[in-house]
Amino acid sequence: MLKGKHIILGITGGIAAYKCATLTRLLVKAGAEVQVIMTPNAKQFIQPLTLSTLSGKPVISEFFTANTGQWNSHVDLGLWADALVIAPATASTIGKMANGVADNMLVTTYLSAKAPVFVAPAMDLDMMRHPSTVRNLELLKSYGNHIIEPAEGELASHLIGKGRMEEPENIVKALEAYFAVSQDLQDKRVLITAGPTVERIDPVRYISNFSSGKMGFALAEECACRGAHVTLVAGPVSLKTEHANIERIDVTTAVEMHDAVMNALPQSDAVILCAAVADYRVENVADKKIKREKDAAPVLRLTPNPDIARAVGQTKRADQVSVGFALETDNENVNAKGKLDRKNLNFIVMNSLRDKNAGFQVDTNKVTIFTDKGEVIDGECKSKRDVAHDIVDVLSKYLTKHEK
Ligand code: C5P
Repeated sequence: MLKGKHIILGITGGIAAYKCATLTRLLVKAGAEVQVIMTPNAKQFIQPLTLSTLSGKPVISEFFTANTGQWNSHVDLGLWADALVIAPATASTIGKMANGVADNMLVTTYLSAKAPVFVAPAMDLDMMRHPSTVRNLELLKSYGNHIIEPAEGELASHLIGKGRMEEPENIVKALEAYFAVSQDLQDKRVLITAGPTVERIDPVRYISNFSSGKMGFALAEECACRGAHVTLVAGPVSLKTEHANIERIDVTTAVEMHDAVMNALPQSDAVILCAAVADYRVENVADKKIKREKDAAPVLRLTPNPDIARAVGQTKRADQVSVGFALETDNENVNAKGKLDRKNLNFIVMNSLRDKNAGFQVDTNKVTIFTDKGEVIDGECKSKRDVAHDIVDVLSKYLTKHEK
C-alpha cells in the first residue's frame, strides 16, 4: 500500500524522536519515499545523519541551507507529499499547527500540504490532558487531520499514563489502512455538481443562494484521492481544486449545469448531485440594467429550471449510482425520503439548517444518509472533508456491488 508513496516524516523535540529511526526504516522497507523534516529541538534527541542515512535523503530543518543559501520550498514539499506524518508531535508543535504559528520549516510545510496529515502525539500525561492540548487536538481533527492516539504506559518521566507515542509498527499500519481504503475508487469516473447556480435578472443582478460549494469540493477531493477520475461541474464559487484527477467545468446557470451533467453522464460510474441549483430562473431577463429612476418596479416572471437530479434519475443505466443531497429546514426525514424516491437516487444525504455548524458556508457538517434499501445512517458533526469520507464509503459499497 505504501509502495511509491511520498511521505513527509515531521519529527519534533520529544524523547520518542529516537523511535523515528525505526519508523523511517519501516516506511522505506514498505516501499515509501521518505523526506524527513526536523524541528530545531528534534535534533537534540536524534541525529539528522541517522535519519538521512535511513531515508536516503538529506534531512530538512531550516528554511535555507546554511552553506549554499538554497531555499527549501515548503510549498513544493507540501505538494510532493502523499501523506504528512508528524511523529512524535509535541504539545508545542500541536499548538502551533492548530493556530497557524508557522515559525519553523515543519509547520510551514504542514500549512502548505494538500495531503492527509497524521499526528502521533507524545508527551507527559498531564500535558496530554491539559485543556489546551485537548482543545488543540480537537482543532486538528476539525481540520480533517488524523490523530494516531498515544498509548498508555510508562512515560519518560517514569509516570504511568496516556502519552506514549504509538509504536512505529502501528503508525505504519495506520498509514497502510488509510491508503488501502483510499484507492477503492481506482478507475471509477465520478461526476459531481457543486456550489450554487446564478440566474440573471439583468446584466448586473442575479438570483442565487448561500451555497459555498465547500461540501461538493470536499467530495471531489475525497473521490480523487481515492483514485477516481472526477468531473466537477461547479457553479460560481471562490474555491480552488487541488487534485490532478479533478477535471473542472465552471458553469453559471442551472441550464448550463444541466447540459454539462447530461453530457458527462454516459461516461460516469457515479453522480453526486451536491449543487444548490436555483429552482427558478427569470423568464424576462432584461438586456440592459434596470434603472430605478426611469423604470417602474420590475416584475420578475419566473420559470422552472430543469431538475438535474431527476433528469439523471430518469436516464441513468442500472450500473450507474446516483447520490443526492437534501438541505432541509423542517420535516427533514420525510422530505429527504420523498426526494430519494422522486429523483430515483441510490441514496440521499440530508442535512438540516436547524443543526448548528451544518449547511451553508461553514466548514463542518452533520448529515443523515437514507439509502434506497431503507437504511438510515446518522453522522456526527465533522469537518466537511470527514463527512465526504463517510459519504464516499457508502458510495464505494454501491459501486463494488454493481461490479459483481
Ligand atoms: O432542491 P432540492 O431540495 O429538490 O434538491 C435535492 C437534490 O436535487 C440535490 O441533490 C440537488 O443537487 C438536486 N437538484 C438538482 N437540480 C435541481 C434541483 C435540485 O440536481 N434543479
